[in-house]
Amino acid sequence: MSKLQPIRGMKDLFLGDAATHQHIIKSCYDVAANYNFHHASTPILEKTDVFSRTLGDTSDVVNKEMYSFEDKSGDNVTLRPEFTASIARAFISEGLQQNVPIKCISNGALFRYERPQKGRQRQFHQINCEWLGTAGPHADVEMIQMAWDMLQALGIENVELQLNTLGDAETRTNHKAALVAYFEQYKEDLSEDSQTRLQQNPLRILDSKNENDQKIAADAPRIKDYLSEDAQIFWQQFQKAIHDLNIPHTHNDSIVRGLDYYSHTVFEFVGSGGDLGVQSTLLAGGRYDGLIKQMGGTPTPAIGFAAGIERLALVIEAQTITAPDAVIIPLGDTMDNCLKLAQKLRSQEQSIEIIYGGGNLGKKLKKADKLNTKIAYIIGEDEATKNIALKRDLNSGTQEEVNFT
Ligand code: HAM
Repeated sequence: MSKLQPIRGMKDLFLGDAATHQHIIKSCYDVAANYNFHHASTPILEKTDVFSRTLGDTSDVVNKEMYSFEDKSGDNVTLRPEFTASIARAFISEGLQQNVPIKCISNGALFRYERPQKGRQRQFHQINCEWLGTAGPHADVEMIQMAWDMLQALGIENVELQLNTLGDAETRTNHKAALVAYFEQYKEDLSEDSQTRLQQNPLRILDSKNENDQKIAADAPRIKDYLSEDAQIFWQQFQKAIHDLNIPHTHNDSIVRGLDYYSHTVFEFVGSGGDLGVQSTLLAGGRYDGLIKQMGGTPTPAIGFAAGIERLALVIEAQTITAPDAVIIPLGDTMDNCLKLAQKLRSQEQSIEIIYGGGNLGKKLKKADKLNTKIAYIIGEDEATKNIALKRDLNSGTQEEVNFT
């Protein structure tokens, strides 16, 4: 049999890498708790419609990247490519309207069939936060502050907050008409993808990765010139509040986001430095007031964001696995006593590693050293008969007898 490997773009996580992921999750959950956000979880597999009807026909995620297949009962199902549509589906199917506002934080694996590169995997992980049931713009600022606090808690300094508004439905209808008129002039020069987008969702052309498309898009009509009166008031209130809280930011009117459900505020935290390659967006999100209604639920305003755990891991200090508080070293036939001592110490909330296997004391102390622990309890046969252990300070080498009955 050929050597078995993980699937391309999917990674195993052990030791330090796994510790770094856990550290990110814990730090973000600690911050979220200060904002009264609570953990929520949805299935990894959903009916394909959950995503195909919500993220947008012209989005790359739906068009090219979904892991979809027919299950044994013939249902078309998809491994979730993001959390938001699943949370919105759950909000409706679980009748969570009764409990608004819902403020939830989730973490877990997502799947997108993208070309793997540094910071971009086919199975990746996000910290995802959603706030359903509160209209903006002050909730938007609070949400962005929470994202900012999470990045600060992780010690990430080289990051820029970029903001934009996509306005409301009226704004987008007017802007769309202007975009179609503009891009029609250059239709022949646009990439094939963008020619399709021109028919279905011309906003997406502004997000094109094609160089020629980007040149043409540089002079395209900007949404800020088409904001309805309501959208303008929203955007002004938002800008004032974010300014008053001293959250540093820049306005980037080419942020349109790759998913269709957004309206009003959209934002991205773009990092630099560390090991980060070209995939530099660490955290991104925005308001999606129309999504729940579009999915058949009661109209519910909502905002959220997600941070890529792999990308955060590239810019924070790598973690190591934690050392045990102490090791227990059996010498001779004393394993039963070692288990008893381990039970006692663990009941006092200590993390304990018993050094298994053969070898003399020197060899076992070397193993303890490798684990970076500071204390070793040594139980030889003499100690075992007396129900004691030799507690050795591995830094100073001093030791004392301790009774453990
Ligand atoms: P997104 O921009 O598609 O938004 O993804 C958010 C973040 O997930 C990205 O900024 C990046 O850090 C990470 N990410 C995305 N794709 C990959 C990948 N292939 N490999 C590694 N990291 C990746 C969303 O997913 C929205 N659901 C965010 C949101 C929540 N909006 C409202 N609520």
